[in-house]
Amino acid sequence: MDINRENALELFNEWIDSESLIKHCLAVEGAMRGCAEEFGGDPEVWGACGLLHDIDFQKYPDSEHLEHGPKILEEAGYPEEFIDAVKGHGDFTNTPRETKMAKCLYAVDQLASFIIAVGLVRPTKLEGMKYKSVKKKIKDKAFARAVDRDEMKKGADELGIEFKDLVMIVVNSLQKREKELNEMGQSLF
Ligand SMILES: [Fe+2]
Repeated sequence: MDINRENALELFNEWIDSESLIKHCLAVEGAMRGCAEEFGGDPEVWGACGLLHDIDFQKYPDSEHLEHGPKILEEAGYPEEFIDAVKGHGDFTNTPRETKMAKCLYAVDQLASFIIAVGLVRPTKLEGMKYKSVKKKIKDKAFARAVDRDEMKKGADELGIEFKDLVMIVVNSLQKREKELNEMGQSLF
């Protein structure tokens, strides 16, 4: 199948209409598009992977998350490598993250949402955001406490890059995506 944003969005809309989950998936999509440029992937495919990674999460939010997603994607015609990347973003599935796409998805899933949370408390949102602002919030244990700091850092380790560099790749990707989304009448916020 030809993987692109248009058909990914069609499937996405069949399964997800929760506003918070839409925002999360748009952020991960944006981060994955940026990672594709950085690591030599196809932005349409990697973006679709980000958009669809939580496809079953609204209907099956708890212990069944990622039990149904792979089947939904398989029936829609997505290839094994794509589905393995989606499975791999949940440590509990014990799916090895073998491709750069899988490693990136794991690395940006929580980080993208964390950066959006940092943006929410800044008057200029993502604009001019430096690593320093993110680092300060990571140290603040009360801030976005649901986000596992170790997991975000593990993602950078698996990619073999400095955490600081990963943060800035995601910040830059989200800045760019926010501009593009604004033109489509949407926002990450
Ligand atoms: Fe996610």
